[in-house]
Order: sequence, then structure tokens, then C-alpha cells
Amino acid sequence: MSKTWRPATQLVHGGTTRSQHGETSEAIFLTQGFVYESSEAAEARFKGETDGFIYARYGSPTNDMFEKRMCMLEGAEDARATASGMAAVSSAILCQVKAGDHIVAARALFGSCRWVVETLAPKYGVECTLVDGRDLANWEKAVRPNTKVFFLESPTNPTLEVIDIAGVAKLADHVGAKLVVDNVFATPLFQKPLELGAHVVVYSATKHIDGQGRCLGGVVLADKAWIDENLHDYFRHTGPAMSPFNAWTLLKGIETLPLRVKQQTENARRIADFLAEQPQVARVIYPGRKDHPQADIIAKQMSGGSTLVAFELKGGKDAAFALQNALDIVRISNNLGDSKSLITHPATTTHKNLTDEARAELGISAGTVRFSAGIEDSDDLVEDFAKALKSIGA
Ligand SMILES: Cc1ncc(COP(=O)(O)O)c(C=O)c1O
Repeated sequence: MSKTWRPATQLVHGGTTRSQHGETSEAIFLTQGFVYESSEAAEARFKGETDGFIYARYGSPTNDMFEKRMCMLEGAEDARATASGMAAVSSAILCQVKAGDHIVAARALFGSCRWVVETLAPKYGVECTLVDGRDLANWEKAVRPNTKVFFLESPTNPTLEVIDIAGVAKLADHVGAKLVVDNVFATPLFQKPLELGAHVVVYSATKHIDGQGRCLGGVVLADKAWIDENLHDYFRHTGPAMSPFNAWTLLKGIETLPLRVKQQTENARRIADFLAEQPQVARVIYPGRKDHPQADIIAKQMSGGSTLVAFELKGGKDAAFALQNALDIVRISNNLGDSKSLITHPATTTHKNLTDEARAELGISAGTVRFSAGIEDSDDLVEDFAKALKSIGA
């Protein structure tokens, strides 16, 4: 395997191991266990004296290919494929804390991620302080002597706020904490958290990596020492492993990631620019537009815009519901990153569990809508939005 391959090549060939049949497509090893030539061979495998798989909860050949391909793309030494994005997030955080530790997290998090740090971790004696992550001073102020983990996503779900990853990583190093970045919204193509100094990267592979609405998956990536010390045992004994069938689906999905993300990003930009001109729209937030409030940080840490657009309708919830209901091609769904264009109203779906105050802090109003661009022809998408906006009036 060549480390000099560019991403599009890595994503088609990276990590592939072929069986004795020399199959073109990656094989699915849908097996729970593995057999040994002899008792001595089993003993040696368990002692770690020989390479090879032991049990599918620990690792298996198809998952191994997916993990290796993701490592290549991310520039990580090691990875663990998980059953979902939330399995990746919760494992990456919980494997490295103990009672008495403290987490600092950006408050603008996907609802379930926020629940893990705000509600679950404290049940086990791990306190969490949520901060407005856009200002580095807030991270610094929240640090305590027992702070072990920093956690953020950037751009954030759903309002596409951006956090200075290199700045937070530098502070983490200074105070001896580990920075975990949920890189779902940026995709592994447009942002490289490890190069920016983060220690651990997590993905919901359910999103752009599958990108075709088929299966759940996740992945945790980091250097080998961190995985060995923190995740290795946690992963084996708590069992968040990905199904080999899903690893195979994701290996096929990831082959076309650059093609899909390119088209999705072009479509997202076109829709963002179109919406910004419409009288019913109060504001548009898109990381690829010059009017994004943090365009300077985006230029520093992202190499592309985003496949998502957030916008606010002047008519509040009624207008948001009417717009969503009037769209034909764009379907209502809380999922994202799919080749089908999807739209959701965060206040009543993904972020419904937050208090009104917490939603207001994050800039989620009754009129906020999140659009996830698919790979359709952008002319059709513009026409779909134009027709739907016309039907809801000015
Ligand atoms: C930013 C972010 N992180 C994590 C997740 C969780 O991923 P999954 O649904 O695969 O568990 C999601 C979406 O669901 C997400 O949007």
C-alpha cells in the first residue's frame, strides 16, 4: 500500500486484503469466530505471539480493511470500527475517563453527543462543563486541574458554527487533556483534525461514508499508543463492534466518497446562494460563503465548504413546516450526508430535547431549517426550492 496515494485512490484500494480467490471486490467475512490449527496455535494467538483474529467482537478481516482504509485517509495510526456514530463518540470519551475526572465540551453538539457528556458521564462521577466553543478563552476558563478530555464538533449540527481546532488542541496539550473531534459535518476530505493537533477523531460513518442511507456505523481514529492504552480493552469488553456486513457496505460506500461529496458540496453552495436571495429567508449559514461569521477560521482549517446549509425562515415554525411539506425532491429526514437531498427542522426533531434557552444559545430558532444536499442535478433542487418558497408566500 502506498502512503503517497491521493485520497481518491486510497478510498478505492486502501487496506484491501484478498483471499486465496483473488476477488475484485472486498470479501465479507461474516463470521463470529476463527479456528486454530492446534491448541498451541490458539495459545500463541491469545498470548499475542502470533498475528490473527480471535473473535469478531475484537476485530475481523472485513472490519480490518475498513479501519485501515480510514486510517490512510485520516493519517491515523490505528482505528476501531463501531456499530454507530454514537458508539464511536461514547467509546472515545468514556474509555479515557474515570470518576473524579472532568470534561470540557463545546455546547453546540449533536443532541445524543451532548447527552453523553452532560447527562451520562456525570452519572459515573465525571463532571462536564459546556462552553461556547467559538471563543478560546471559554475553554481556558473552564479548565480544572482534573480536566482530562476536550470534546467538540466543527462545523456544528445544525447551525454550522466553527471552532478553532488548532487553538483548542494547543490548549489541550498545555493542560494535559486529550481533544476528541467529531468530524462528521466536515467529512474526512475537507478537514484533518489530527493534522490540526487533535488527539482523537470520531465519525458517524452512517453519514457521508455510507452516504446511501443503508447502514449505521462509526469509527474512532487516533495514534496507536492512545488506542492501546485507552480504547483497546474498553472496546473488547464492552462490545461496540461494527457488523462485518456493515463494514463491507461502508467499504463500498467510501469508494465513491470524493465523487459524492464534491457534487453535494456544489449543490449545497448553489442552494445556499439561492436561498440568500429569497425574501422569505432571514439568514443563511454556509461554511463556503464569505458571509459566514467565522470565515477566517474556515479558511485556516477547512479545504472545502460543506454538504449542509442552515437557514432561517422569517415565518418561524409555520413557514418551516410549510416549506418542508411543499418540497418534492428534497425529503424530510433527520439524517444527513445522503445522496438524496434531505431537510429537517431541528427544533422539533434532532434538537427537540434541549430547553428553549439552550436552543436559543445555539442559534436554533423556530424558523431554523437544516438542508443536507444530495447528488441530484442542482437545477432540479433550485426549482424544487423555488416552487416550495413560492407556495408559502412572502
Ligand atoms: C455530529 C454527529 N455526531 C454523531 C452522530 C451519531 O451518529 P449515528 O447516528 O451513526 O450514531 C450524528 C448523527 O446522528 C451527528 O450528526
